[in-house]
Amino acid sequence: MSRSIRIADIASYPGETVTIHGWLTLKTGKGQLQFLRVRDGTGIIQAVVFKKDVPADVFEAARRLTQESSLVVTGVVRADDRSPGMPGGYELGVTDLQLVQIAGEYPITPKEHGPEFLLDNRHLWIRSSRQWAILRVRATVVRAIREWLDQNGFINMDTPILTPAAGEGTTTLFEVDYFGEPTYLAQTGQLYNEANIYSFGRVYCFGPTFRAEKSKTRRHLTEFWMVEPEAAFCDLDQLMEIEEQFVSYIVQRTLDERRSELAMLERDIRALERVTPPFYRISYDDALHRLAEVQARTEDPELKELLSVEWGSDFGSPHETELTAQFDKPVFVYGFPTQCKAFYMEPWPGRPEVSKSVDLLAPEGYGEITGGSERISDPDLLEQRIREHQLPPEAFSWYVDLRQYGSVPHSGFGLGVERTVAWITGTKHIRETVPYPRMINRVYP
Ligand code: 4AD
Ligand code: MG
Repeated sequence: MSRSIRIADIASYPGETVTIHGWLTLKTGKGQLQFLRVRDGTGIIQAVVFKKDVPADVFEAARRLTQESSLVVTGVVRADDRSPGMPGGYELGVTDLQLVQIAGEYPITPKEHGPEFLLDNRHLWIRSSRQWAILRVRATVVRAIREWLDQNGFINMDTPILTPAAGEGTTTLFEVDYFGEPTYLAQTGQLYNEANIYSFGRVYCFGPTFRAEKSKTRRHLTEFWMVEPEAAFCDLDQLMEIEEQFVSYIVQRTLDERRSELAMLERDIRALERVTPPFYRISYDDALHRLAEVQARTEDPELKELLSVEWGSDFGSPHETELTAQFDKPVFVYGFPTQCKAFYMEPWPGRPEVSKSVDLLAPEGYGEITGGSERISDPDLLEQRIREHQLPPEAFSWYVDLRQYGSVPHSGFGLGVERTVAWITGTKHIRETVPYPRMINRVYP
């Protein structure tokens, strides 16, 4: 009798006979020897079938295996430094092999495929080692998010997905027919978080959020996961301290737990090791100066054009890419113009044209991963902003109501899971950081 194990645990069984349930990812070798690359969800191992070591039918079964065939393989665990796999350093000397199913001709082969083809086959593509590694990192990032918040006094409060009003601008709303009434898929849980802090002090919501983003970029999905912490008695400086602790924890936790996956992805680990508090802090005005300097220096007319930005506009990805290139770890940009941000942001004292807002930009060109602010605590100012933004006052009356009963300075932010995973894994396009991406031109599979 041999013991059934998971490949991830292989190092605990040197010299023992073990059984692995999995799939064939690659087969090489001929004649007397077959090398089977087998994965079981927890790792990848090379299983070696030597004709003279196995019954004839077992060798024949190995020869018949096609890519993605499912199998149960038994063998002796051998330490071998050169052996590929994850964890590396071990291989299996096969003694028995049972076929579960011989797979049909698999559409994804080791050759290059275009992104649209891969996205059409996303249900199969998630088996590829790169996608496997990215999505395992994602699972750790999600867990690290919850760990830090739970350990630092933030209470998880789920917020609704069907909402009566826009939280982040009316141009990206998905409308849903709610028994004849229009409602919208949540763009944010923030407004409900703001109610919840008056009961719990510090809260967070964490769930899918929806935005009808009409542009195709490598940073935008129409359905993405966002975690949103919110804290009472918290100003903008305290918010930045919370954010840098939080983001550093996520990165360091991922490095601890998913170093092999990051190595598989050929991620520069040193860049991640630097992610510890404090992060850099620059004002929006300073950021504009820095961009103007780059613009003045560059001889590339296209870049010159891309970098032009008037005071009052939000940054686009060329600006963020250029700014983050100047720093070796994440950088906060604070004090954005009021006109380019959401309606609920507290004005800067003595400078009402500026808001107490902050974005955190990830280095190496990844750009914005969090957006946050101090919130307006005065009911009259909040009502004025709702009017200025032409939002329906009825839908926000409960939100204004919060400012009548023990209103306090409070702040919060939202961190996008997919952008964070893209940065940590070094993935250029965020469509690979979620199992089934939703974008303007894609809701299949
Ligand atoms: O900056 P945003 O729009 O801020 C809010 O929604 C606030 N209500 C958060 C808060 O203060 N509680 O979005 C926050 C983050 C962005 O920094 C980005 O990481 C991510 O959410 N994000 C997106 N990620 C993928 N696709 C999109 N279309 C995204 N839009 C925002
Ligand atoms: Mg933002």
